[in-house]
Amino acid sequence: MNHFINQLPKAELHIHIEGSLEPELMFKIAQRNGLTLPFASIDEIKSAYQFENLQSFLDIYYASADVLRTAEDFYDLTWGYLEKIATQNVRHTEIFFDPQTHTDRGVEFATVIKGIDQALQDGKSQLGISSHLILCFLRHLSAESAMKTLENAIAYKDKIIAVGLDSSELGHPPSKFQAVFERARNQGFLTVAHAGEEGPASYIWEAINLLKVSRIDHGVRCIEDETLVEFLAQSRIPLTVCPLSNVKLCVFKTMQEHTLKKLLDRGLCITINSDDPAYFGGYLTENFQAIQEGLGLTNLELYQLAKNSFEASFLSPIEKEKFYQELDSFMAQYPSQ
Ligand code: ADE
Ligand code: ZN
Repeated sequence: MNHFINQLPKAELHIHIEGSLEPELMFKIAQRNGLTLPFASIDEIKSAYQFENLQSFLDIYYASADVLRTAEDFYDLTWGYLEKIATQNVRHTEIFFDPQTHTDRGVEFATVIKGIDQALQDGKSQLGISSHLILCFLRHLSAESAMKTLENAIAYKDKIIAVGLDSSELGHPPSKFQAVFERARNQGFLTVAHAGEEGPASYIWEAINLLKVSRIDHGVRCIEDETLVEFLAQSRIPLTVCPLSNVKLCVFKTMQEHTLKKLLDRGLCITINSDDPAYFGGYLTENFQAIQEGLGLTNLELYQLAKNSFEASFLSPIEKEKFYQELDSFMAQYPSQ
């Protein structure tokens, strides 16, 4: 393992907590809840993780989330993720959760929040990892369903910093959720959205202009629109890029073809993230390592990506400054190349 990458202080801004459900924990929770999985072994589960696009992944991801029923399940899921990233010096994380995946199966919104929130509090006190929680609406469902979910979330405003948009992108543009996001902003939530993962650059413009997002999740297809690339560079609206996810879901055929270095060189606020680490072959360290190997990034470029992760976070200016200083003292021990 690359010691520099693992020990680099970093933040994660794009992680679906349901996507951190490792096969071992899936089996344990299924057993606890008296459920039978459609897989006979952990190896069988892992060999099913071959995807040709986003939808082929989402089908398995939603089916697997069905084991999650109780607050204890959501606690164990979140705690497992936090324990893992503690070993990778991830100092701050902003976690997505998909309430509709659970409420549509009869699991209460309150149950989901209770388990995740308790683990995040323990993550702060026991592991020193700070965090924020982001509620994602499933874009393949209706705007009415999203609005109902938002109404449920208002009671938990103190625990949820932002709302986002995920799931099947093509055919579900950000404009579909304009009214939902407007109400969310009026209620004090920040906004983010997945855009330009499989969908066109025009979806990124819609997310910025109609949903008023603070960050774009993925956003890699911005490269098809030169005016957009210039706008993103000048505004520093961050992209939360997920390299291993992009290769696993065939957005890029190989890591060598990933465009994140080109975008970084153009001055965009690119950050590195794991998306669904249990499905795509790794957490934050593995993602950094894969781009370092695939794109030949220098220590200085890796440092810039880590710095961007704090800049792009929803931390306060004082908290950001503290992490910049921590990063600079870390960097002083290493050569830049
Ligand atoms: N939900 C979980 N992972 C996702 C991804 N990569 N894109 C859209 N929705 C998701
Ligand atoms: Zn995602």
